[in-house]
Amino acid sequence: MKLNILAIESSCDETSAAVISDGKILNNIIATQSVHEKYGGVVPELASRAHQQHLIPVVHEAMRSSGLHKSDLSAIAFTKGPGLMGSLLVGVSFAKAMAFSLGIPLIEVNHMQAHILAHFIEDPKPNFPFICLTVSGGHTQLVLVRDYLDMEIIGETTDDAVGEAFDKTAKLMGLPYPGGPLIDKCAQLGNPKAFQFPISDMPALSFSFSGIKTAVMYFLRDNLKENPKFIEENLHDICASIQYTLIKTLMQKLKKAAKEYRIKEIAIAGGVSANSGLRQTLQEEAKKLGWNTYIPKFEYCTDNAAMIAMAAHFKYLAGEFSSIDVVPEARMKF
Ligand code: KG4
Ligand code: ZN
Repeated sequence: MKLNILAIESSCDETSAAVISDGKILNNIIATQSVHEKYGGVVPELASRAHQQHLIPVVHEAMRSSGLHKSDLSAIAFTKGPGLMGSLLVGVSFAKAMAFSLGIPLIEVNHMQAHILAHFIEDPKPNFPFICLTVSGGHTQLVLVRDYLDMEIIGETTDDAVGEAFDKTAKLMGLPYPGGPLIDKCAQLGNPKAFQFPISDMPALSFSFSGIKTAVMYFLRDNLKENPKFIEENLHDICASIQYTLIKTLMQKLKKAAKEYRIKEIAIAGGVSANSGLRQTLQEEAKKLGWNTYIPKFEYCTDNAAMIAMAAHFKYLAGEFSSIDVVPEARMKF
């Protein structure tokens, strides 16, 4: 019998289910929650309610399109954390109930590790050891990946995540949530050197992104005093300049990590790895520095269950299963 795993992701605002068969992803069904747009950020209580509404139809679709019957499943995987507690609880409870009723193992997955393991869904796959810059709405991490399940965080943010910096500066400009993809789009039409924002000076491999948010806030306030139409007249240039600063901050530390650890296998992962400026800059630096770079397909950058399924596949092979009394962890570490 093949090793078939159904995986569920519900850590933030995407409800997703995917089926993996002998290491091959069969599908990746995602229901996005639009309810948060008008609030300028994810509202946790609304997110968990939306997960409750979306989860069964999403799982149904993943099973239907896989062509498998539930009796063909070898295990059920789920995101244990990190994430929003109410959202995680919906996925964990569902996964437990399904595994228990089918009498098959449960596999817990760390969402941040799964973002990295998304690189093993398709070719080209990174060679161990590699460094992964994981950039999302909740995290900014430099991870030394020694093996599928052997990872170490060698640098991270001390305050906001880079995705948060994108989203919060977008909000200051009146753009809807999530602002990251909108800044990306506008930045493509603007001049990245039009305005200057500070690059944080952090020790070792640490990041800080709260300063740019404050800098953008004062910059907009001062310019709006003189010209109430300042944002609309300069939107592309402001977006390009913010994005340039954020990417420069990320690249500085990534280059430092690669040099310190003498590693030339470099990957990026997480929602912000969908950013076209980051993808392009990474490729340019790679040429100069002789790096082999790995950039996930767009659908595997932002939250999805295919990456949870991929991680679960490796955990199944390693014999790492969870007990039925497992509970979610909002601040789960590696
Ligand atoms: O990994 P993800 O889907 O969810 C978390 O685990 O946080 O990442 C979401 C983050 C959001 O901050 C969103 O604005 C950002 O990824 N993002 C982008 C782009 N696409 C998504 N940021 C910049 N440029 C993009 N193209
Ligand atoms: Zn994520």
